[in-house]
Amino acid sequence: MTLLQIMPEDAPETVRVRTDDLDLIHGELLRIGVRLTRWRAAHRLPADADDTTVMKAYGSHIDHLGNEGGYRIVDIVRMTPRSAGRSPDQPACPARERFMREHVHDDDLVRFVVAGTGCFYLHVARQVYALLCTAGDLLSVPGHTPHWFDAGARPNCTAIRFFQRTDRSAVRFLPGGIASRFPAHDDLLATLDD
Ligand SMILES: [Fe+2]
Repeated sequence: MTLLQIMPEDAPETVRVRTDDLDLIHGELLRIGVRLTRWRAAHRLPADADDTTVMKAYGSHIDHLGNEGGYRIVDIVRMTPRSAGRSPDQPACPARERFMREHVHDDDLVRFVVAGTGCFYLHVARQVYALLCTAGDLLSVPGHTPHWFDAGARPNCTAIRFFQRTDRSAVRFLPGGIASRFPAHDDLLATLDD
């Protein structure tokens, strides 16, 4: 289930909007120039599908989006508890911490969630838009939008990433540590079970 929760940047405990209604989510996001659409695979994907199989299943969508947005690089990222770097002797989670720092980049933020869940936090118009995405969600955020990402303490998220530029290193981290004040992926996911 896709979930949108909007909170003021200076009052994380105040929930201004909370909805899993896709039409309402589309409307709220369009106001800030963000698109959320849904893709269906051309055929059913096995849970252990490799990158080639995933790319083929969404080939027509990927080609269309690539032509439309000028995305020259398309890759797949798989976030798992192991890839997050978490282990008994390494309680901190370097990859997760990096993703959870607010930052901006020139490139659009375009991600398609193939499997699992991941939460994108968009910091726009003095509000934080926490968007918990699930399999089938394609998110398109204009470049230069402050944001961060969390897939939880035990990540399970496979996503296709789209890049316009070959230089992916132009990331600028912002000071302030805002992410720690807002509900994390696992907090939001837990509320869905309430
Ligand atoms: Fe980013």
